[in-house]
Amino acid sequence: MPNSLWDVSRKYVLRTYGCQMNEHDSERIAGLLEMDGLEQTESFEEADVIVLNTCCIRENADNKLYGQLGNLKKLKEQRPDLQIAVGGCLAQKDRDIIQDKAPHVDVVFGTHNVGRATDLLAEARVRGPLIEIIEESESFPSALPVKRDVSHAAWVTIQIGCDNSCAFCIVPAVRGREISRPYKQLVDEVEALAAAGITEVTLLGQNVNSYGRDLTLKLRGAELGQDAEYLAGETWVGGSHTARPLFSDLLRSVAEIPGIRRVRYTSPHPKDLRPETITAMSEITEVCEHLHLPLQSGSDEVLAAMHRGYTVDRYLKKVHAARNQIDDLALSTDIIVGFPGERDVDFEQTLEVAAEVRFDNAYTFVYSPRPGTEAAELVDKFVSPAVTSTRMERLRKVIERSRRLGNHSRIGRHEEVVVEGHSKRDPDMLTGRTRHNRLIHFPVKRPIRPGSYALVQVTAARTFNLAGELLEVTAAPKHRTRIPVVAS
Ligand code: 5AD
Ligand code: SF4
Repeated sequence: MPNSLWDVSRKYVLRTYGCQMNEHDSERIAGLLEMDGLEQTESFEEADVIVLNTCCIRENADNKLYGQLGNLKKLKEQRPDLQIAVGGCLAQKDRDIIQDKAPHVDVVFGTHNVGRATDLLAEARVRGPLIEIIEESESFPSALPVKRDVSHAAWVTIQIGCDNSCAFCIVPAVRGREISRPYKQLVDEVEALAAAGITEVTLLGQNVNSYGRDLTLKLRGAELGQDAEYLAGETWVGGSHTARPLFSDLLRSVAEIPGIRRVRYTSPHPKDLRPETITAMSEITEVCEHLHLPLQSGSDEVLAAMHRGYTVDRYLKKVHAARNQIDDLALSTDIIVGFPGERDVDFEQTLEVAAEVRFDNAYTFVYSPRPGTEAAELVDKFVSPAVTSTRMERLRKVIERSRRLGNHSRIGRHEEVVVEGHSKRDPDMLTGRTRHNRLIHFPVKRPIRPGSYALVQVTAARTFNLAGELLEVTAAPKHRTRIPVVAS
């Protein structure tokens, strides 16, 4: 067997199906593969290793995966040395189904052992196909090597798992209990990222506002000594403080780190969004004025059946509080259409709430039954595909209208933009992101390095992006040799 470390001609394809958590895991998988000497390619024909990183939140991910595995069967027959791995939360859930349906898969691994991806591939080369799924783990994807698509921005996982029980959602079953990463470990990680030239971080978790809840129990339950500060940060240890570190504290600590210019986060749960978080967003310049607050439905009946823990009224109160306090706030959301039992009146209420809030962006999903979840049992209440598709069309129009209005309201403004690179269609055009995370295109006469900050005047708006004129480059990226590889 060739020593993979020195066998530099080997190539891998990595496909990600799913959410941001998965994208984040994929960065780690790519980092591990590259540490092992493999080079990335987009061509299946060229690849020695193909990794499909899956998500099980919605059904079409399953369909895409099994379709893809079907296509790869022939390739594997032609080239038995090709290795195929399936990872992520669908792999975690459907481990045996994958082996039954696709025996040509070499490795199946779950969400808790992303860090073992390359070891498992090496083991499978010797021992043949294998499955390794770990149910619970305290290792976080951020503690693994990384390969990022964008060099100036990084995701940082602050918690894994989820303690809620939304009736439609498979996440608690596959990602397990909520575990927060120690406070100091997070601050240290962002410091290391900043030192390496990262200027924008996105804090990731299923329910970021409950960050630290489990740390309090740990703090109370044990004599931790010096570990206490590592777990919870300085503020909450000793003195009169007995409470836990809050998400807002973390926002402040991360934003204070020299070199960090933008802090984003996703997702907060509306029931847990605290006033402290809104205040922190309004006070800290580095925290971008963008709130992604998943609504899911505009009907109190449906929200109750989903076990979301809030009413429309309480949702709207949080939106108003955020808009009142945070200057120039952009709002985005997630909405599910066709939850079991959703009647026309419920859906009409969703349309009304969406129109009232005027979301700048929304991710809309057709309800997809996930076996093992409470809602998947409500078969007699399933909404027909014909009804859901008409509802979806109507909702998309409402969202499109408010997105267009939101984009139009930017015309004439001077926006701070981080340059991401050249436009795919026109090399004289640059693309970047505003603080609201809106995509903007603008022409340039000389090259500007990705990761630069620029001031751009918005001149036109379309449904999905903005156009502008460059006013000035305000900061160039710090020279970096390598993104740090933090050993676990
Ligand atoms: N069906 C449809 N959408 C879902 N989501 C989660 N589970 C399901 C499901 N079973 C959506 C929710 C969540 C987003 C990440 O995915 O809107 O906020
Ligand atoms: Fe799923 Fe609800 Fe947890 Fe979000 S809060 S991950 S929707 S169970």
